[in-house]
Amino acid sequence: MSFSKYIVPALLASGAAMAASSDNCGTSGSTTNITSQSDADALSSCTTVKGDIALIPGISNGITFNGIEQITGSLIATDVTNLTSLSAPDLTSIADEFHLESIILLTSLSFPELTSVGSISFEALPNLQSLTFTTGVNKSGSVSITNTGLTSLSGIELDTVGDFDLTANTALTSVNVNNIKNITGTLIISANSNKLDVEFPNLVTASNMTFRNTSTISVPSLANLTGELGLFGNYITNFTAPNLTTCADLDFEDNSKLASISLPELVHVTGGLAISNNADLMTINFPKLSTVAGAIDITGDYTNVSLPSLTEVKGGFNAESTGNFSCSAFNKLDDDNVISGSYTCNTTSHPTNLDGSSGSSSTTSSSSSASATSSGAAVGNVAIPSVGFTALVGALLSLLM
Ligand SMILES: *[C@@H]1O[C@H](CO)[C@@H](O)[C@H](O)[C@H]1NC(C)=O
Ligand SMILES: *[C@@H]1O[C@H](CO)[C@@H](O)[C@H](O)[C@H]1NC(C)=O
Ligand SMILES: *[C@@H]1O[C@H](CO)[C@@H](O)[C@H](O)[C@H]1NC(C)=O
Ligand SMILES: *[C@@H]1O[C@H](CO)[C@@H](O)[C@H](O)[C@H]1NC(C)=O
Ligand SMILES: *[C@@H]1O[C@H](CO)[C@@H](O)[C@H](O)[C@H]1NC(C)=O
Ligand SMILES: *[C@@H]1O[C@H](CO)[C@@H](O)[C@H](O)[C@H]1NC(C)=O
Ligand SMILES: *[C@@H]1O[C@H](CO)[C@@H](O)[C@H](O)[C@H]1NC(C)=O
Ligand SMILES: *[C@@H]1O[C@H](CO)[C@@H](O)[C@H](O)[C@H]1NC(C)=O
Ligand SMILES: *[C@@H]1O[C@H](CO)[C@@H](O)[C@H](O)[C@H]1NC(C)=O
Ligand SMILES: *[C@@H]1O[C@H](CO)[C@@H](O)[C@H](O)[C@H]1NC(C)=O
Ligand SMILES: *[C@@H]1O[C@H](CO)[C@@H](O)[C@H](O)[C@H]1NC(C)=O
Ligand SMILES: *[C@@H]1O[C@H](CO)[C@@H](O)[C@H](O)[C@H]1NC(C)=O
Repeated sequence: MSFSKYIVPALLASGAAMAASSDNCGTSGSTTNITSQSDADALSSCTTVKGDIALIPGISNGITFNGIEQITGSLIATDVTNLTSLSAPDLTSIADEFHLESIILLTSLSFPELTSVGSISFEALPNLQSLTFTTGVNKSGSVSITNTGLTSLSGIELDTVGDFDLTANTALTSVNVNNIKNITGTLIISANSNKLDVEFPNLVTASNMTFRNTSTISVPSLANLTGELGLFGNYITNFTAPNLTTCADLDFEDNSKLASISLPELVHVTGGLAISNNADLMTINFPKLSTVAGAIDITGDYTNVSLPSLTEVKGGFNAESTGNFSCSAFNKLDDDNVISGSYTCNTTSHPTNLDGSSGSSSTTSSSSSASATSSGAAVGNVAIPSVGFTALVGALLSLLM
């Protein structure tokens, strides 16, 4: 057996090790700038890079970070318009932000070993259709993905997350974060594909969830919300949360196909309850709802409202429908002082919300929006999240390409 056959690779390996100990593997609190593949290659002997790594505009084609396993700061690429692919085959963690923004030509993002990220922020990546996160990211403080070409969230495998924003991803048809049990921040799902199916099969607790423009929503395990559950302008035909017992504000507005809401275990609404402008919703029935800390504001075209367990409404009560429904049970609640605030209940051709907006699409062309709040007062129109500018830029850019 020849000795030299082994000594050559050994020398090469020790050479690489010496390079690693002597080279520049970044500095905490400062940024290592990457302008080309050779800058990335200069880091290939660093298992840990300290500080941030930033890709600088002007790069064209792809960049691969071989060898790096950890970044103690952020990995950032902003306005690197012509970057087509970004890959880090060995990278397992990014301590701070993983921020990619305005990278129009990016089609491939390959981070097969990545599991832990401080936060994910991807914005204006119109040609990125999938994430090659093979192991799957199971830890990220927050996730914001807006105006990308993603069709699914495959590769995002979180157990828990803070803020979670999915906005203006117009090709996104499927969100299934199977492992997620706890969303501690604000969830916003808005203006993605009109065919979007959202599934959170194991989500138990959340704080504030807003769904817009969504086709189906599945939250079979959801038990407690400390904030708002808001459904606006969705295409769902039914909404079921069989285990939900408490939430703050509960809003169902402008869901034109919504025919049934099933919240069989809902007992406490610690904010207000607002249901407005859901043209197909004929029956509203919350069998166990007992206390509402704010107002109840229910307008539309329904023919039956049933709140048989109601014991306390601290705000006002407004029920107005174009449909023929019975107010007798509510008249009694008003007489018995179960309802503390102002009381309105009637059939009318112009149902009006507490904030004065119209509560039925069958009688008006203008859209409306209402919120019953904990004070019992009405707030103005609910702001639609910032889909406008980035969506427009993305659309224009994709037309130009
Ligand atoms: C990286 O670039 C930024 C500005 O683009 C600059 O402030 C910073 O000093 C650069 N970092 C290094 C190590 O040269
Ligand atoms: C991207 O490539 C185009 C065409 O080669 C070039 O005109 C443009 O300056 C590049 N943009 C950036 C930010 O590098
Ligand atoms: C995430 O996945 C990695 C690798 O599979 C595993 O070692 C780690 O314990 C997981 N972390 C969490 C929070 O599940
Ligand atoms: C949700 O996560 C937060 C923060 O990690 C934690 O304080 C809270 O106890 C968790 N709730 C549940 C029900 O797991
Ligand atoms: C609903 O809650 C019950 C009682 O807490 C629990 O046994 C059941 O597994 C929950 N259902 C789902 C789908 O999580
Ligand atoms: C939900 O909240 C109720 C009342 O605050 C509490 O009794 C219950 O344990 C909570 N359930 C979960 C799954 O956190
Ligand atoms: C819930 O989040 C939405 C969207 O960010 C916000 O408009 C609303 O005020 C929040 N509601 C509560 C009760 O925090
Ligand atoms: C999304 O729903 C909102 C209502 O919440 C509506 O105003 C908006 O036009 C819808 N956007 C799209 C892209 O369908
Ligand atoms: C609820 O909506 C889903 C998705 O559109 C549908 O598959 C299901 O049949 C509906 N369930 C009921 C009871 O209408
Ligand atoms: C209204 O709905 C409730 C619950 O679904 C039902 O028990 C009741 O009979 C309905 N009332 C009318 C007049 O249809
Ligand atoms: C409304 O319903 C009640 C009870 O079902 C019925 O007696 C009454 O005639 C209906 N009124 C109209 C205008 O349809
Ligand atoms: C409905 O009730 C409100 C308050 O009692 C009243 O101002 C309004 O005129 C009523 N509308 C109809 C059509 O009776």
